[in-house]
Amino acid sequence: MVGKIIGTGSYIPEQVWENEKLSQMVDTNDEWIRERTGIARRHIAGNREPTVYMAAEAAKAALDNAGIRAEEVDLILVATISPGEIMPCTACGVQERIGASRATCFDLSSACTGFLFALNTAQAYLGMGIYRTALVIGAERLSNLTNWKDRGTCILFGDGAGAAVLQASPEGFYVQVTHSTGEKGSVLTCTSRNQEKYEDIPAAAETYMQMDGKEVFKFAVSREPEVIRELLEQSGKKQEEIRYYLLHQANERIVKSVAKRLGESMEKFPMNISQYGNTSSASIPILMDEQNRKGAFSSGDFLVLSGFGGGLSYGASLLRW
Ligand code: ACO
Repeated sequence: MVGKIIGTGSYIPEQVWENEKLSQMVDTNDEWIRERTGIARRHIAGNREPTVYMAAEAAKAALDNAGIRAEEVDLILVATISPGEIMPCTACGVQERIGASRATCFDLSSACTGFLFALNTAQAYLGMGIYRTALVIGAERLSNLTNWKDRGTCILFGDGAGAAVLQASPEGFYVQVTHSTGEKGSVLTCTSRNQEKYEDIPAAAETYMQMDGKEVFKFAVSREPEVIRELLEQSGKKQEEIRYYLLHQANERIVKSVAKRLGESMEKFPMNISQYGNTSSASIPILMDEQNRKGAFSSGDFLVLSGFGGGLSYGASLLRW
């Protein structure tokens, strides 16, 4: 048994911040942001759009798309690094909001690779026959963790949520490869406020996401093609058999570099970073939902999902639509 994706959904906050707005907040400009990242705008959650709200809205859309009721869901996994509350977990909040009374719920934290890791976790439960139907969500309100005075990071991030419904099926096909490199953890960090107080470090920018952009960039453009090749080798599939590569949307230049290194056409790499920026764990499921709703996938298509992020961690999964 393998989990087959039977529905997708997403939620994008209403408020839009164009690059122009950021140029009034920090020393940057639209041209620089577009050229270096491909980002034109991002959506920023308002007061009535906490992480749990966005996650639940994406979940409802995914259930609707799958044509199943919330009561049929056995497992809810939310990948997030920006929950509104530490306790209860966001997945339990989603359960309450959608009425998935039978589900077991928990959150998973692995930054931008979070959705991929949550998908793998759900597959393990479905594969072992423990559960039949799983709801996997990536939801982020990164605007809460962004230092809006740091032009090196604040131009990159946005808020949103994406979800997929998986159902155990004898026809499913799923292969995954993941890696973590904890020794590179310091290049992308977000230190908790409590810890800072405990250690008597003055409240500073460490409260927010900090990164060595160049190091993350180098990591992504070398490790993503590497892990995709490893995945294809393990699965026995050839690049020609892959319909689409759905990559974490961190930087347009990263996606283009991965395509080039694989010798693939950009047509196989749909992108939406220009509209949303980097939404961390939400980026892959939002992209998947958009493509699904456009009718881009046909039954039997092989899709590669791949991402990298804080940890550092990275991975890729191959599934049959
Ligand atoms: N606007 C204008 N100028 C800027 C800005 C800005 N927002 N930011 C930096 N600059 C300047 C720099 O000061 C530098 O100026 P200098 O040449 O006078 O010193 C120049 O622009 C070039 O800066 P670089 O940092 O070299 O720019 P680079 O081309 O590396 O792009 C970027 C920076 C966009 C951050 C890139 O490195 C990147 O995308 N890295 C990957 C980051 C990433 O994906 N992070 C998320 C990981 S996912 C997760 O887990 C959350």
